[in-house]
Amino acid sequence: MTQRLTTTAGAPVANNQNSETAGPRGPVLMQDYHLMEKLAHQNRERIPERVVHAKGWGAFGTFTVTHDITRFTRAAIFGAVGKQTDMLARFSTVAGEAGAADHERDVRGFALKFYTEEGNWDLVGNNTPVFFIRDPLKFPDFIHTQKRHPRSNLRSNTAAWDFWSLVPESLHQVSILMSDRGLPISPMHMNGYGSHTYSFWNRDGERFWVKFHFKTQQGVKTVTNDEAATIVGQTREGYQEALFGGIEAGNFPRWTLFVQVMPEADADSTPYDPFDLTKVWPHSDYPLIEVGVMELNRNADNYFTQIEQAAFSPSNKVPGIGYSPDKMLQARVFSYADAHRYRLGTHYEALPVNQPKCPVHHYHAAGNMNFIGLRSGAGDAYYEPNSMGGVGEDPTVAEPPLALSGMAARQPHQQQIDDYTQPRALHDEVLSEAERGRLYGNIAASMDGVPAGIIDRALMHFERISPAYAAGIRAALLARSGLVAAAE
Ligand code: NDP
Ligand code: HEM
Repeated sequence: MTQRLTTTAGAPVANNQNSETAGPRGPVLMQDYHLMEKLAHQNRERIPERVVHAKGWGAFGTFTVTHDITRFTRAAIFGAVGKQTDMLARFSTVAGEAGAADHERDVRGFALKFYTEEGNWDLVGNNTPVFFIRDPLKFPDFIHTQKRHPRSNLRSNTAAWDFWSLVPESLHQVSILMSDRGLPISPMHMNGYGSHTYSFWNRDGERFWVKFHFKTQQGVKTVTNDEAATIVGQTREGYQEALFGGIEAGNFPRWTLFVQVMPEADADSTPYDPFDLTKVWPHSDYPLIEVGVMELNRNADNYFTQIEQAAFSPSNKVPGIGYSPDKMLQARVFSYADAHRYRLGTHYEALPVNQPKCPVHHYHAAGNMNFIGLRSGAGDAYYEPNSMGGVGEDPTVAEPPLALSGMAARQPHQQQIDDYTQPRALHDEVLSEAERGRLYGNIAASMDGVPAGIIDRALMHFERISPAYAAGIRAALLARSGLVAAAE
């Protein structure tokens, strides 16, 4: 015997094999609290899964600065070349539940938490530089189209294409999702993008708009739908096996961080709205600036406490990094911490994986399962302001003020929004012929069972992106219906 098994109250347990019964055949006595406690705890093992991005894979690592960007930001993490900061990454699919197969075509989450000395900075991005919608009011509806139909409890191609064809701003992201990049071979073989426009501010109080790009050093590698079907037939956990197994074996994946930086005033003159999440900033306008390297080199000791209970939130910003007017980002600043309070509880930030690695002082009091007491720095200082020696504010970390103007109204980003130019660049200029062919095939496959009227409406938009794009999808649909007919 190493150490004694105990109840949660610490009392030693004499017998963990047999319930306490009246006679060898039972029944079980109600006083067998050890049994009651075991069953009661088991009933509480599951917590609500994330409402989106439920299936995930994560690991710890380090971020190292390789290039100086202190002219743009005073953020401590970028303070000096060579500086290292501990971090946590969690990758995920969006739509599948916690038990979903890993190799499904879907956008991948790319969530990062950097434990900086001025607080946790979370960058909660995806493996795509854009998103399906540009207004947060559409987010719950969009997600409903990706989740299960309320009656059939099945995923619905019809719902997805009905929504996408009614919301053509989605087709840039849909094009990336249906391209090769929509099905990475592993989390190590995909890029990560902050996607939104964020802001940097430096020690002189200058603000810049910024986009974050993490480029995989393993190379972008993807699988086709057919290859994925074979993989899923063999294992539903291919990403966990690859990431966890790779790190256990000492193969540490790395990504290079680049930023695109836009001077604050440029935002008034770009032909696209730089705060519209369905748009990229063309590299030719805002070239990538190298910053550093992220390496994942340590697996979690316990998946539940360190990956499932990890709480990433765009609201976690640090001095030198700020939000932008992006409407989607503004909504996310609310939504994540709200989700964490529901999913994990009031004191989720005090869980070891979320706990900052710097002093934490605030006046939040009491609350469910509070084990941190008061963090105000002095016992009698349980309110603020006080003259009891409690912690106080620091005006030196104030963000430079941002000029805003306009009428308060429910209004679109711009009067004339161009949803077609950027997906056209992707289709006509970035993708090779072979990649385009697979894109058409993947779109056609995702339209299985979708009513003709919805497909026609989608094709009308693809036509506006590029006649060749629409023609390619039409041909793939025909070939697919031919295949189906031949098989029948
Ligand atoms: P560039 O030619 O400078 O950039 C094109 C970028 O497309 C590449 O750098 C690469 O991004 C990305 N890319 C390459 N292959 C694929 C693929 N199969 N699926 C998705 N993306 C791919 O042109 P622009 O900057 O003017 O962008 C043109 C179009 O490229 C955009 O409209 C957008 O659709 C797409 N794109 C642009 C990005 C940007 O931030 N400017 C980022 C990603 C895509 P990476 O280097 O990040 O791998
Ligand atoms: C997870 C909301 C858009 C990336 C989540 C969660 C919520 C949410 C509630 C679950 C959080 C949790 O329980 O821990 C929203 C809303 C959005 C939005 C309201 C738009 C208005 C986006 C966008 C991106 C993104 C644009 C990427 C650029 C992620 C990622 C996760 C996530 C990566 C998983 C984080 C993790 O690994 O724990 N989202 N989301 N989301 N979201 Fe969003």
